[in-house]
Amino acid sequence: MKNIFDVVILGGGIIGSSIAYHLSKMGRKVVIIEKEQLACQASSAAAGMLATQAEMEQDGPLLQLALKSQAMFHLLSSELLEYTGMDIEFVNKGMLKVAETEEIASDLKKQVTYQRNWDPAITWLDFKELHEMEVSLSPSIAGAMFLPNDGHVHSEKLSKAFTQAAVYFGAEIREHTEAISFIYENDQVNGVKTTKGVIHSNQIVIAAGAWSAQLMQESGFKINMYPIKGECFSVKPNKTLINTTIFSDKRCYLVPKQNGEIYIGATMIEHTFDQTVTPLGIASLIQRATQLIPELNEASWERVWSGIRPQTADGMPYIGEHPNWKGLYVAAGHFRNGILLSPITGKLVAELLTGTLLDQTLLSAFHLERHQETIV
Ligand code: FAD
Ligand code: GLY
Repeated sequence: MKNIFDVVILGGGIIGSSIAYHLSKMGRKVVIIEKEQLACQASSAAAGMLATQAEMEQDGPLLQLALKSQAMFHLLSSELLEYTGMDIEFVNKGMLKVAETEEIASDLKKQVTYQRNWDPAITWLDFKELHEMEVSLSPSIAGAMFLPNDGHVHSEKLSKAFTQAAVYFGAEIREHTEAISFIYENDQVNGVKTTKGVIHSNQIVIAAGAWSAQLMQESGFKINMYPIKGECFSVKPNKTLINTTIFSDKRCYLVPKQNGEIYIGATMIEHTFDQTVTPLGIASLIQRATQLIPELNEASWERVWSGIRPQTADGMPYIGEHPNWKGLYVAAGHFRNGILLSPITGKLVAELLTGTLLDQTLLSAFHLERHQETIV
């Protein structure tokens, strides 16, 4: 087996896969090293929301990155279909951020005014407008912020479409292979030791989601990252209950998928890699979701699942080169928005590695040294 590549990507989730796609398309010989199977962790657990407006309420570098990424989905979905035949189920019908109390309604109305600074299409829907649009919503909902530009995709299909498209352009995939440590000479990385031998390259990208901090530890540099478990469940009603994604707060959202399932998420359990789905977690989601859509109580039960979000101390991903070792890069810590941010992360990392990144400021807020300690 040939063990020399232009770039080795550690982690076959959506971030590693998008980087592999963009690099392979630029002609680089790339291999993805995945400990288990492609998209087996957070990238298949995600609800797939492209929730720039729903999740990012403040202007700043992360919002600007998300706006750029969201704008890529139209073209990306047709490109991936062309290269792989896979439909990523891109839906662009907007989201409703609903107000369950008058107090929340008053806050959301202020938010509409503020967020219209960067998305003038955002509007406030009063009780009548909202309930005409989504007839199954509980009459207790006073109104909603309508975010017409937010949408969703099928996250596992997007992740796998990225990898298949990377393979189409010549990338190699090695599953059931775990990266253990790095080989370097002076200050230049030149290989990675894995459970199946050494792979040589002068460019290595750590894209191992919530497990990236452990790999970074091997390089003597600590990044401030921790896991946050999210549990979800899904149901299939026997008639269409909602057309738009309903987002109540960061602990309950309902996403109507193309196959008729409604994905309902998600809990936020900090500092655990344990992926157990608990009755407590699911009961809290059922309670919240049925308060929003009472008829969900009669829908047929489908499944439960969980995933581990990669969170960082300031809520922003790490995207950039290792401060001490040339050729070692990190792209991880996308927390609640890795699906949304995957296209732009892949594109910018590919440009960084190939020396074609024209606007360096796009990544300056995400560098690795912003809150670290060198391990001695
Ligand atoms: P992962 O998908 O976790 O992939 C990392 C990969 O690295 C894994 O496959 C792992 O096996 C592999 N790996 C780890 N260590 C090693 C090693 N040493 N060697 C080789 N491989 C290794 N985001 C959105 O944008 N919209 C949403 O609606 C949304 N909903 C979510 C709902 C839930 C319940 C959860 C948990 C997350 C959600 N997210 C959402 C967040 C999103 O899923 C993540 O930000 C994103 O999937 C992170 O992708 P990743 O590739 O960095 O990590
Ligand atoms: N973005 C939704 C979640 O992380 O649960």
